[in-house]
Amino acid sequence: MKTPGQWQMKNVREIIQQLKEKPGALLPVLHAIQQYIGHIPDNVVPVIADEMLLTRAEVHGVISFYAHFHNHPTGQNIVEICRGEACQSVGCRQLEKHAKNTLNIDYQQTTDCGSITLEPVYCLGNCATGPSIRINDDIHGRVTPERFDELMENCRQHLQEAG
Ligand code: FES
Repeated sequence: MKTPGQWQMKNVREIIQQLKEKPGALLPVLHAIQQYIGHIPDNVVPVIADEMLLTRAEVHGVISFYAHFHNHPTGQNIVEICRGEACQSVGCRQLEKHAKNTLNIDYQQTTDCGSITLEPVYCLGNCATGPSIRINDDIHGRVTPERFDELMENCRQHLQEAG
C-alpha cells in the first residue's frame, strides 16, 4: 500500500500507455495500477478514462463490479468471508459476526495495525467445505471461529516478521 506522495500520476500514465493497446486492456490496466498503488484512488479514474477514451462511469463500473479492485487503501492482508448460500447454511453468519467482533472492524475496513482488511465475497467455489474464507490468494475451508483466530494470528505474525 502506498500513501499519497508515494506514488506518482506520471507513473500511472506510463502504466496505461504500456497496456492500453492490448485487447480488453481495461482489466490489465486496473490490475497494474492496483499493484503499483495498492488500490485504485478515485482521482486516477478520470485519467484512465481520458487515456483509454472511456467514460468515467465505465471505469467506475468495472472497478465496482469486481470485488478484487479496491478504491480505498487496504491492509497487508485481504480477508474475504464467503456469504454465499452454501456457506450460510453451515454458519458463515456466525463466523462473520465473530470476525467483525474480534478484529473490531466492519466490512471494507482495516485493522488499526494495518494488517487485515475485511471484505465480503459471494462464493469462492469451495461450497462443499464451508464456511469458506480467502486470505489474499489462499482459500480456507471449514473455518470455525477458533480456526479464524489462528489464521488472523498468522497474518499478524507475518506482518511483524516483515516489519
Ligand atoms: S457459497 Fe461459499 S464457497 Fe460457495
